[in-house]
Amino acid sequence: MKIVFATNNQHKLSEVSAVVGSDFEIVTLREVGITEDIPETGATLDENASLKARYVYEHTGLDCFADDTGLEVEALNGAPGVRSARYATDGHDFAANNRKLLAELEGVDNRKARFRTVISLIRNGVEQQVEGIVEGDIATAEAGCGGFGYDPLFIPKGYDVTFAEMSADEKNSISHRGRAVAALKEVLNK
Ligand code: IMP
Repeated sequence: MKIVFATNNQHKLSEVSAVVGSDFEIVTLREVGITEDIPETGATLDENASLKARYVYEHTGLDCFADDTGLEVEALNGAPGVRSARYATDGHDFAANNRKLLAELEGVDNRKARFRTVISLIRNGVEQQVEGIVEGDIATAEAGCGGFGYDPLFIPKGYDVTFAEMSADEKNSISHRGRAVAALKEVLNK
């Protein structure tokens, strides 16, 4: 069964395809002729995931899903949240984002944070959402060079290393995205 994933990121595509399994042929935006950037103007992760999935459905009529992820820091009232990619600048400047996060939490004792991934799935025109969450803490300095984004600052609960210090397999087995994709698989196989 063909299903469109609202991404052109090959890394995300292979991660999701590996979990969801061979009953579904997951294709990217480019493969269905969507080359423009889909507007992500929502105020929340849930809204953005939904906007992207609906855009694909309206343009193709195909079953599809879209994801949106953010880092939610308790002491910052959930920021950077939906603005995680553009926290410090308009670009996806991971180093600047990490510097800003450390500066905002300077002297703050409460380091609690969580990554949250929301996936909006549209099947036969009906939309539903699943999510994956991993709780943790923001470190006081960057550690590790694996992964991407906020990984060098995020210590998942129950561990004493950051995501950037873990192997990709170890991170994927407990990560927000890994959990959201597992939930997606369950819904798809119902
Ligand atoms: P996206 O919705 O997957 O594009 O994620 C939005 C932003 O959240 C990224 O640009 C990163 O800054 C951050 N992010 C998402 N997933 C991760 C992760 O697994 N580790 C670290 N940062 C992440």
